Amino acid sequence: MTSKIWGGRFSAGPAAIMEEINVSVGFDQRLAKQDLNGSRAHCSMLVAQGIVSHEDGDAIQEGLTRIEKEIVAGNFLFKRALEDVHMNIESRLADLIGTPAGRLHTARSRNDQVATDFRMWVRAAIETLDEDIRKVQSALIDKAEAHADTIMPGFTHLQAAQPVTFGHHLLAYVEMFGRDRGRLMDARTRLNECPLGAGAIAGTSFPIDRHLTAEKLGFDRPMANSMDAVSDRDFALEFLAAASILATHMSRLAEEMVNWSSAQFGFIRFTDAFSTGSSMMPQKRNPDAAELVRGKTGRIYGGLLALLTVMKALPLTYSKDMQEDKETVFAAFDTLELCLAATAGMVVDMKPNAEKMRASADADGLITATDLADWLTQTLNIPFRDSHHITGKIVKLAEGKGVGLAALSLADMQMAEPRITQDVFRVLTPEASAASRTSYGGTAPDNVRKQAAEARTRFLTRT
Ligand code: ARG
Repeated sequence: MTSKIWGGRFSAGPAAIMEEINVSVGFDQRLAKQDLNGSRAHCSMLVAQGIVSHEDGDAIQEGLTRIEKEIVAGNFLFKRALEDVHMNIESRLADLIGTPAGRLHTARSRNDQVATDFRMWVRAAIETLDEDIRKVQSALIDKAEAHADTIMPGFTHLQAAQPVTFGHHLLAYVEMFGRDRGRLMDARTRLNECPLGAGAIAGTSFPIDRHLTAEKLGFDRPMANSMDAVSDRDFALEFLAAASILATHMSRLAEEMVNWSSAQFGFIRFTDAFSTGSSMMPQKRNPDAAELVRGKTGRIYGGLLALLTVMKALPLTYSKDMQEDKETVFAAFDTLELCLAATAGMVVDMKPNAEKMRASADADGLITATDLADWLTQTLNIPFRDSHHITGKIVKLAEGKGVGLAALSLADMQMAEPRITQDVFRVLTPEASAASRTSYGGTAPDNVRKQAAEARTRFLTRT
């Protein structure tokens, strides 16, 4: 005989290896709270619909409350032999209240139960991450405001392109993280439909009220199709996809922090709180936290690919393959929480070195070449393509002399274009260049201050 909940038609227990591959309670106990809430809602609906008596309903609710206390207190014994969190809780309920426990699973299957629990878990995870990302944005906006005037080289192809401000650079990440929050919240909106009541696959003959359970559990509506309800995991895929893009953004910022904090760049310095030493080289100050944020991206992508592969070509409806959905999502969430907190910490901690950034922007004196070309077009009405060409000649001349543009004489400039006047030198400093970029979304310090203020309203104000 077997003591399994489904043991009626079984005469022997599972092989040890069968139990080993089947067991999920080691990880799905993270769904315990959602499972209890789902059961509470299901039970009150069964009572409201006259499917279960008030007495039995009350006994079940009390039993569930006792179980919750046991779990919170850490006294609940999850048993591997009971496979998963659902059967552990149901079996404990039977220990505690006896016969009425058997009525809880009326008009319910573990298939709709786990889908409901997992949706609620992902929903809560999204809300937590939204707050975590918000903290990173808040730290970035503070730093950006403080460095709205700090000139640095802006890079394309990792080559100095045009002067920008450090504040502007940081606000770029605030936008990315804003879209990450949007993607997660979009996923939340789509996932917020309730599978409960779909039963194993086909619905049920009991007169249940799916709208009631959906409402009790904070869902917008019940899922429309019972087969979809038990077999869909695209909410988890969407979560992992949004998580992957978020991780990508964090990895880019982390990579920049690694670069910036190197002696070769010297743009930022981490305090001892965010630096690690080398066991052999006493001079080292390594940005390990940034490297790990960069490195942990792989796990999150891995989770997305793993679940996509699990779901690929899986016929309707539920198959046990789908039990593989949870660990990837849990792991992605844990990794993101850790990386977001580390990222926020690093942003607060990093001390920009304005002199180094300024010097790097002006290292070869050529970073304002675009400003020279713009001047030719704006002042002499030369078509921009020609201005570009003329500027190219001047840059070549400067390079030949081993000097920056500002160190050329007016006569040198006039060799390329005789109408150039002394006024051109006004636009050749990195400060003038940055200050002139006043177009919407541009890097001018006044813009950056405005953008930081707007970002506060857009991303940090709670509605
Ligand atoms: N532990 C299972 C899972 O996570 C619960 C659903 C089991 N359903 C079934 N028909 N065996 O997928």
